[in-house]
Amino acid sequence: MREKLEKIKEEALKQIESSDALDRLNEIRVAYLGKKGELTSVLKSMKDVSPEDRPKVGQMVNDARAIIEAKLEETKNILARKIREEQMKAEVIDVTLPAKKSNVGHSHPNAIALEEVERIFVGMGYEVVEGPEIEYDEYNFTKLNIPPNHPAKDEQDTFYINKDIVLRTQTSPVQARTMEKGKLPIRMISPGRVFRSDEVDATHSPSFHQVEGLVIDKNITFADLKGTLAEFARELFGEETKVKFRPHHFPFTEPSAEMDVSCFKCGGKGCRFCKGTGWIEILGCGMVHPHVFEMCGVDTETYTGFAFGVGLERIALLKYEIDDMRLLYENDVRFLRQF
Ligand code: DAH
Repeated sequence: MREKLEKIKEEALKQIESSDALDRLNEIRVAYLGKKGELTSVLKSMKDVSPEDRPKVGQMVNDARAIIEAKLEETKNILARKIREEQMKAEVIDVTLPAKKSNVGHSHPNAIALEEVERIFVGMGYEVVEGPEIEYDEYNFTKLNIPPNHPAKDEQDTFYINKDIVLRTQTSPVQARTMEKGKLPIRMISPGRVFRSDEVDATHSPSFHQVEGLVIDKNITFADLKGTLAEFARELFGEETKVKFRPHHFPFTEPSAEMDVSCFKCGGKGCRFCKGTGWIEILGCGMVHPHVFEMCGVDTETYTGFAFGVGLERIALLKYEIDDMRLLYENDVRFLRQF
């Protein structure tokens, strides 16, 4: 019995010494000291030992158990320390290495132009409102006095999700949405992305941005429109800027106009920038059409209003003298950093 115990102990110690993982130590503990372990099975065979010898054998089993346990504990501590040391070595930070430079981007000319436009209108008491880019045909066209099958729809051909839902061709549908909420008076601008099925060239893109404006109150006249947009032009392009309104047609305004600003490059004398005319076209505008009011639930007896729409890219291109719209979509920071 003594020999058997000695052998079990030796074998256990040998295995413990040669193990290199905490899991392995656990396996050894189970194999020797566990319920079905080798040492335990010796205890179970005590019935074959003569009663006088039992205390001695019992003592021997306990001693062997204590030695194995101590060895397990000691090896566990050594292994744990080794693992920790290896981890620390692996995680060491070499403070002498050159730092990684993080790339800092730059505000986009569109974003800078929009901030400027928002600053001007918020300063005049306007709210900034947003609308969906995926829009009902009804809001994009019908409620803006462009009925189904009307040829005016052709000018703003776009991408259809299905026959009732389009990628909006203009920010004007936000006018209809705001009016329908029924909270009057309204003084709002609505910037956002719009879409048309246009080929890409220096002045066109299938996706660009507009800022819509809408004012509805009692006694709003064309004089309010002129005064507001003239002030907008002066703030955006400089104190000296003059404005000119040319009659135009938009289905949702009556009368409608396009507004030109005096060329801020040559001051109106005529240059390459304004193609010799002294004027630069900047936005569309007009008095909200009574049909639009009716379709959007605004009382035409009490209220009148004006609206306008301006292309954000157009402002950015003019203000920063960029001659190709495609540059705006490349997002090359070397280009963007110039503004
Ligand atoms: N939505 C027009 C366009 O995309 C621009 C516009 C013109 C908006 C006149 C208006 C407006 O609100 O009154 O061409």
